[in-house]
Amino acid sequence: MLDLDKYGPWAVVAGGSEGVGACFADELARAGFNLVLIARKPGPLEDTAESVRAHGVEVRTLSLDLLDADALDRIRAVTDDVEVGLLIFNAGANSYGHEFVTGDMEGFRGVLELNVVKQLELSHHYGALMRERGRGGIILLGSMSGFMGAEQQSLYSASKAFSRIFAESLWLELEPHGVDVVELVLGVTRTPAMERAGLNFDIPGMLVAEPADVAREGLEHITDGPLWVAGGNYDAVRKRNDFPRAEKVRAAAAGMRALMSR
Ligand SMILES: NC(=O)c1ccc[n+]([C@@H]2O[C@H](COP(=O)([O-])OP(=O)(O)OC[C@H]3O[C@@H](n4cnc5c(N)ncnc54)[C@H](OP(=O)(O)O)[C@@H]3O)[C@@H](O)[C@H]2O)c1
Repeated sequence: MLDLDKYGPWAVVAGGSEGVGACFADELARAGFNLVLIARKPGPLEDTAESVRAHGVEVRTLSLDLLDADALDRIRAVTDDVEVGLLIFNAGANSYGHEFVTGDMEGFRGVLELNVVKQLELSHHYGALMRERGRGGIILLGSMSGFMGAEQQSLYSASKAFSRIFAESLWLELEPHGVDVVELVLGVTRTPAMERAGLNFDIPGMLVAEPADVAREGLEHITDGPLWVAGGNYDAVRKRNDFPRAEKVRAAAAGMRALMSR
């Protein structure tokens, strides 16, 4: 169980209503963490809050779009009076899949704004407070997509590559100050967002992780930064880094087409 003295007493889960985020909330509540859960849809957010309160912890909810310009101010309004020892930036599945040159720049900007700018803002704010206290942890959600370009998700893949390299830097900078940083890299995971997107989870031989398993794995490996690949995907990630790139990128693209083909 995660050490409440090191990473508590409060945790912020940005994207904490469904799927992996809800499972983080459940695991943390069982370990005695008070929680601030953030997501857009109030229904699933309140359902998750109610279910984790059953573990006897305090839970604050904030229904907002992280893309809103005043998001950090509104998050601070519900956290400035408590000690946040753990930040999990979970929100960030691809919200706009499209071929780049024929796509809408506003859609692409949304992906960049959430996965890059908002992730930086929250890491900057809570990371500074953790550094001052000399303890804490930050988990950023990465993807195997961050190791390779792909059709229809150029911005998503690039944003996850950004996040991975950013996490490595942050890990180096905060380690001497007692703050652990890890980029938790997921492969295909059966979340409500992916169910809604219509992913084909039935491809023979494909690893499909369950949200509860990867959330638990991420918390167990918070000290194993800067990168932890969840769900048994280490080999697949290693192969994604191989050369020659043309061969590797084309092969992965074929796999991606199958995944999106339900
Ligand atoms: N599922 C996979 O197969 C997979 C694979 C690789 C990596 N990942 C990564 O794992 C993380 C979780 O993915 P996911 O599949 O669960 O989907 P997701 O769409 O990122 O949803 C996760 C949570 O974030 C919230 N959220 C999403 N956009 C938000 C916004 N703009 N403002 C506030 N809250 C927002 C969602 O609730 P609301 O919709 O109500 O806002 C939900 O609670 C992401 O970072 C994703 O890139 C997932």
